[in-house]
Amino acid sequence: MIKEKELVKEALEARKMAYTPYSHHKVGAALLTDEGVVFRGCNIENAAYTPSNCAERTAFFKAVSEGYTRFKAIAIVGGMDDAKELPFCPPCGVCRQVMAEFCDDDFKIILAKNENEIKVYTLPEILPMRFGPTNLS
Ligand code: THU
Repeated sequence: MIKEKELVKEALEARKMAYTPYSHHKVGAALLTDEGVVFRGCNIENAAYTPSNCAERTAFFKAVSEGYTRFKAIAIVGGMDDAKELPFCPPCGVCRQVMAEFCDDDFKIILAKNENEIKVYTLPEILPMRFGPTNLS
């Protein structure tokens, strides 16, 4: 199974595709399915602003639209276009909610500045007391 470092590399590659003419803040994500398939995502902005999509959700929606709904981990990298070094880029609240729809408590959220500086979180840590599918059953 793919290692954390390799997933970060995939996220760094995904970040190169970010379409960010407005914020100039580029984010890349790499989402690992249960089967070991990786889906890359980047943020895609829009002149009307609200239709913009985050990198994480791009990755999730690509995967779900291809029939994958079970996931192990996501690597996220992001920072300003001209940043010399990337900071850690935490996922926004909306992306956390999308994770809550599809991911178990042991799903890993891997934030990275680069391949060597990595922090790993779980969903209960970054979205405690979340509303999810079980609330509707
Ligand atoms: N962004 C992401 O892609 N993921 C996040 O979780 C945080 C924010 C994007 C959205 C927008 O294109 C830019 O970063 C600035 O907010």
